[in-house]
Amino acid sequence: MNENDDLFPLPSDGTYKGLRRVLTYGTFDLLHYGHVRLLRRAAQLGDYLVVAISTDEFNAGKGKKSFYSYEVRKEMLESIRYVDLVIPEYSWEQKVDDVKKYGIDVVVMGGDWAGSERFEYLRDYCDVVYLDRTPGISTTQVKQNLNKSVPGSAPAAPADDAAADDATDEDEA
Ligand code: CTP
Repeated sequence: MNENDDLFPLPSDGTYKGLRRVLTYGTFDLLHYGHVRLLRRAAQLGDYLVVAISTDEFNAGKGKKSFYSYEVRKEMLESIRYVDLVIPEYSWEQKVDDVKKYGIDVVVMGGDWAGSERFEYLRDYCDVVYLDRTPGISTTQVKQNLNKSVPGSAPAAPADDAAADDATDEDEA
């Protein structure tokens, strides 16, 4: 069994013409609409979206502990229609290998990472795009609000997001 059997077939020379592959990184704990909107816009930048989510061990090394385990976060992300493949993020150093292994054309991150040295060096290997974060929501915020019993609320998605999404649905129909 080849390690890339779960992907669209890649030519043996590692190149793939015509299919634009997008990769993003994150923890995606307590999945919320800020995550979903980031994933939707990331998917719109290409044809195939790979999401690398931090393992519990990687988070522990950063002094973080997610509410949901890696396996549960992976299961939820795999159920999102914008996401084609979920892979583990187990170290800061794996990104170049990921870009090569999965034939990535563009790495996408939320604007909180804009200009970060953690991603800028990837420009030698692929495009790097930062998308504006959705204001007013984060996993940290959800946890704080739950502790204070503040009800959740989601402002409407920007009109251009929804229009682009509908257009995609019609194209697929
Ligand atoms: N993201 C976003 N808009 C938000 C929250 C997150 O676009 N309101 C993006 C981040 O920029 C990142 C991805 O979603 O590219 C995953 O973010 P993650 O850090 O897992 O989520 P947060 O909600 O920011 O989590 P935390 O509060 O623990 O930092």
